[in-house]
Amino acid sequence: MDNIIQDIDILDRNSREATDTVITSKEENTGKAKKLYIESYGCQMNFADSEIVSSIMKDNGYDTTSEFEQADVIFLNTCSIREKAEQTVRKRLADFNKIKKRKPELTIGVLGCMAERLKDKLLEEEKLVDVVVGPDAYRDLPNLVGSAEEGLKAINTLLSREETYADISPVRLNSNGVNAFISIMRGCDNMCSFCVVPFTRGRERSRDPHSIVREAQDLFDQGYREVTLLGQNVDSYKWSPEENNKAWLEKKEKQGEAEAIINFANLIEMVAQVSPDLRVRFSTSHPKDITNEVLHTMKKYENICKYIHLPAQSGNSRVLELMNRTYTREWYINRVDAIREILGEECGISSDMIAGFCSETEEEHQDTLSLMDYVKFDFSYMFFYSERPGTLAAKKLKDDVPLEVKKRRLQEIIDKQRQYSFERNKLDLNKVHKVLVEGTSKRSEEHLSGRNSANKVVIFPKKNFKKGDYVNVFVDDCTTATLLGNSVD
Ligand code: SAH
Ligand code: SF4
Ligand code: F3S
Repeated sequence: MDNIIQDIDILDRNSREATDTVITSKEENTGKAKKLYIESYGCQMNFADSEIVSSIMKDNGYDTTSEFEQADVIFLNTCSIREKAEQTVRKRLADFNKIKKRKPELTIGVLGCMAERLKDKLLEEEKLVDVVVGPDAYRDLPNLVGSAEEGLKAINTLLSREETYADISPVRLNSNGVNAFISIMRGCDNMCSFCVVPFTRGRERSRDPHSIVREAQDLFDQGYREVTLLGQNVDSYKWSPEENNKAWLEKKEKQGEAEAIINFANLIEMVAQVSPDLRVRFSTSHPKDITNEVLHTMKKYENICKYIHLPAQSGNSRVLELMNRTYTREWYINRVDAIREILGEECGISSDMIAGFCSETEEEHQDTLSLMDYVKFDFSYMFFYSERPGTLAAKKLKDDVPLEVKKRRLQEIIDKQRQYSFERNKLDLNKVHKVLVEGTSKRSEEHLSGRNSANKVVIFPKKNFKKGDYVNVFVDDCTTATLLGNSVD
């Protein structure tokens, strides 16, 4: 198969989770009077939030459009995770502001993590931003847009301990009708020293499991065949009908009075029971919290995909401590061993890695590489450290690894990952994989693209198969990013 097919499918796969991807709203025409254009940056949770925002705006008279030139309102749903993410948004704001000069009645809003981080600074610095709204204040959007239209300053960046938007049915943007995201919790209570998320997303809170199951069931009824449950740390999901307060729930659990508490293992079981034909995925698992109970539940249900995104960040215990990840290299290895023991070699494992964190030495960097040798990750998202204002690391640690050293270490991590992605793919050769078809391969109308349970992209000749089908594919070739094969009976 030609190389171009492979390259496009690498992009496909990255766009699923990468933090530098942009997603724009699709064209929708239900006859509403006004048009909303949303562009989303950052993680899947941010993309899922844009679907909540579209739903709230739809109930207030807006259709979404894929053409920003036609919009009455433009929202940028932003990310603050690395400096580059914020720079991209600022450039985009400058583009939109040019349109606003021509069309003064246009309302421009900044939503999401950058809105939360910069608050009214955004209104002051970027004179042409009309609305600034943080991730917990989206219900207030119609009011705020109304105020902006009257020329008033429109900002709401209050964070909440309760908001989960559980009752809002998202408008699926850019959906292929097969895969959908479901947010199961919001915020993060970990304080990884490099990370802005606890500041931009607030305290962790879990969503009512019944509303999650209902959403999964609705999606299945509409023809969707895969849901991905989203949270910054899904393993700490906890919910009780009595009291939805994390400290209270943890205390009850310690006292052995946990019967009524639904944890993450219980939740994935509930969602898996919607239908054996609905695949269940989740992201992100935290090494400190992932339990054997979760792994056993994954094993019990064929439709819970055998793939775990388990970000290591570093392979060195001193660096992990500085990062405040609250686990060691040995603990991480123990969790990987448990995955291999309970779910076998086929279970996909991926990671996030940060190169050149504060004071990281050459030997410590080597520990990251040797952890990669041990685990042989199928895939990784790899970054060099970018200091973020307000984080623990920015306050207490010196960002002292020179940029060229960070970049060189990152390149070594990337090179190693490529090697293992290819090696892991080669283990899949000469086997039959159950593939859920997601669409036509971007490069060839004659081929379909889907994924196996371990989250690997599989390309094969179309025949009479279509989107949403499960197809058994015998894989006989691969690249670093893709498996290639033919359907079998
Ligand atoms: N909740 C997830 C991570 C969310 S952020 C977890 O705990 O694993 C996604 C990834 O961005 C992180 O895993 C980390 O690798 C990277 N990242 C976060 N802050 C960063 C920073 N300041 N510089 C570089 N990479 C960062
Ligand atoms: Fe950030 Fe750590 Fe929370 Fe992940 S677990 S979102 S890295 S603070
Ligand atoms: Fe970015 Fe916020 Fe997600 S900082 S990665 S959009 S939680």
